[in-house]
Amino acid sequence: MSYRPQDGFFRKAKREGYRSRAAYKLLEMNQRFRVIRAGQVVVDLGAAPGGWLQVAAELAGPRGRVLGFDLQPIQPLSGAHVNAFELDLLAPRAVERIRALADGAVDCVLSDMAPRLSGIRDADNERALELTRGALEIARAILKPRGSFLFKTFTGVDTEALLKEMAGCFQTAQRVRSAATRKGSSEIYVVAKGFKAGR
Ligand SMILES: C[S@@+](CC[C@H](N)C(=O)[O-])C[C@H]1O[C@@H](n2cnc3c(N)ncnc32)[C@H](O)[C@@H]1O
Repeated sequence: MSYRPQDGFFRKAKREGYRSRAAYKLLEMNQRFRVIRAGQVVVDLGAAPGGWLQVAAELAGPRGRVLGFDLQPIQPLSGAHVNAFELDLLAPRAVERIRALADGAVDCVLSDMAPRLSGIRDADNERALELTRGALEIARAILKPRGSFLFKTFTGVDTEALLKEMAGCFQTAQRVRSAATRKGSSEIYVVAKGFKAGR
């Protein structure tokens, strides 16, 4: 399967004003699992260039609040309820910074974080696992009871072990493949709902 960077979702995103084709993954998964509702506080990890932030801001609406974080700078978004910050989410004080900015418990954590691939399979898998674990640690630290967590992981990562671990701290956790995921991509999403705080 050849790699086609400018596929239908790419063109649709350009037409509809989304910053990335990834926006359609969140739209689709939210339609199926309703992880984001109007008025909620949402934290988006690995948010650049901001496609998921745009979708989360639409779904949470002006009564909600959306905070995005990434290593890369993110161009300001329209809407006073959505803000983006530059941050290495694996840095030791990342959780404290997010907590301070969120200023209260969070309803939904999203993570579309992905490592820059080196082409060395073991190294890439290790980095992907590190990001997945980092996102899980942040979600556990900031989610309110019964909150939701939607995150990306990769087939090289032991997803069975991850799902078992998730089962301890969420009421449900399931693996999802988005229609907007490119054919041949190793990405997988996990939707976890009903955070059991204190576990
Ligand atoms: C696939 S992109 C996210 C796309 C985004 N969801 C959108 O819709 O526009 C993955 C992002 O993860 C970010 N990332 C990777 N490692 C990170 C880290 N340690 N801290 C913060 N962001 C990270 C990358 O900089 C990249 O922007």
